[in-house]
Amino acid sequence: MQELWNEDLHWQARRGMELGHAYCTCEGHYHSLWGALRIAGVNNSLKGEEPLLASLVLPFLRDDARVMIGGSADPGVLCAIGRIYAPRMPAMTIIDRCKAPLALIREFVEGKGLECRTLNLDLLDLDEREQWDQIVLHYTPDFVESRLHERLFRNLALSLAPQGTLVCATMTGASVPFDRRQDMESAFLAYALKALQDTPLAAQAQAPQFEQEFRLYAADRTTRRLTLPTTQDICELLQSAGLQILSEHATSRARRLLVGLDVVDTSSIIIAGRN
Ligand SMILES: C[S@@+](CC[C@H](N)C(=O)[O-])C[C@H]1O[C@@H](n2cnc3c(N)ncnc32)[C@H](O)[C@@H]1O
Repeated sequence: MQELWNEDLHWQARRGMELGHAYCTCEGHYHSLWGALRIAGVNNSLKGEEPLLASLVLPFLRDDARVMIGGSADPGVLCAIGRIYAPRMPAMTIIDRCKAPLALIREFVEGKGLECRTLNLDLLDLDEREQWDQIVLHYTPDFVESRLHERLFRNLALSLAPQGTLVCATMTGASVPFDRRQDMESAFLAYALKALQDTPLAAQAQAPQFEQEFRLYAADRTTRRLTLPTTQDICELLQSAGLQILSEHATSRARRLLVGLDVVDTSSIIIAGRN
């Protein structure tokens, strides 16, 4: 059962890049490069975080749950949720505003004979027409401007069925001082390109176009880390949307990308519920 949810990171990196080049118009060539960064071990937060996520979500699992994943760069979150629910098999829906990850996820589930609905929608345009028992956001709020967070969480609260839960993993805590922005971008670029040398994409990573795309990715990634909310900010937004905070957990990780600067990223998992 568990192997149903195993990913093929090599296939995902290659196919994700093809689909990204065909469909993704996101900042920083996000979906073209996501799989390459995962196989290089640069973006591996989900792998490290899954045991914690599982332990926090466990009390809120239900039989026959309708689960919506709001924003997913590839099949990673789907597989983590699949493993957490197993042997239960929730009815899964994945929503993303970009067509590229949805196409990759469709190919993945078709290959495994799994069922998962994909919807190409902006979460900011959700209304209460459809409701889910559980909604999972895995770092999606980081991609939504702070001024739109209120709308995002209000829409999500309206999309929860009675007794439903919202599981929100998000970065909290400012990690990059504005005046170190350029240093951070260069350090990330050097680190990512070096890590890619030990992957099956090594030859491709030498191409000038690839490096240019990575440069834009690094700039966009740094921008996302300049104005992060606190855990308290997110909890208040969830409460203003009419939800109750059921649990919250913050993890701090030291980053060693910038020599001479203590950069600590904090990510939080908050679970909120509807009455
Ligand atoms: C951080 S990525 C997910 C990464 C992945 N969860 C991980 O860390 O393993 C967030 C995803 O949310 C999508 N997204 C961002 N804002 C969105 C919105 N307003 N509506 C729908 N999807 C959105 C992006 O296109 C992207 O695929």
